[in-house]
Amino acid sequence: MKLGILLSGRGSNFVAIADAIADGSLPGCSIAVVLSNLTDAGGLAIARERGMKAMAISGKGIPREEHEAKMIAALMEHEVDLVCLAGYMRILTPVFIRAFPNRILNIHPSLLPSFPGTHAQQQAFEYGAKIAGCTVHFVDEEVDHGVIVLQRSVTVEDTDTAETLAERILHEEHAAYPEALRRVLSGGYTVAGRRYVTRANPS
Ligand code: GRF
Repeated sequence: MKLGILLSGRGSNFVAIADAIADGSLPGCSIAVVLSNLTDAGGLAIARERGMKAMAISGKGIPREEHEAKMIAALMEHEVDLVCLAGYMRILTPVFIRAFPNRILNIHPSLLPSFPGTHAQQQAFEYGAKIAGCTVHFVDEEVDHGVIVLQRSVTVEDTDTAETLAERILHEEHAAYPEALRRVLSGGYTVAGRRYVTRANPS
């Protein structure tokens, strides 16, 4: 199974996936390419340091469709089976999503459907949520909406700030993404409506 990672920032979720592959937790899985829309994304530099194929495909000054066409071409060229969004800060159009049907995962730092969109941790903190967390989900044509693979929760403490809460959520994200990948790549699941259900006897 070849993964294509899309990121725009520091890339700590990408690192968590790469580490899980390196320590044998995701057998048969490899990262074929790391792509970013931003040339200075920290995650790209880490990928290069680790000897991975990493490319910046800037979206600046070109129409969204053209940018996505380049991204799709790069993923196809590297024969990617599953696309993992790991802090990729551009909304994907239906054209991209249809190019990889049910083969795009995303991680979001809230317990969806609460707090979609940006600054989810801060939204949860300011709302006064007592339980926060993260969600790994398949990507569909609505933002932060597709079928949920798994969620991990954290308790919001009275002593928290938005920042300390975000740190603890991130810690859970780093466990959640590799675990979600392990489940999805095993193929031992069905999707019934919106429900991701693990099969009792995966074949
Ligand atoms: C994470 O909080 C992730 O949930 C969100 O963007 C952030 C990316 O962080 N989608 P990193 O680049 O993986 O460190």
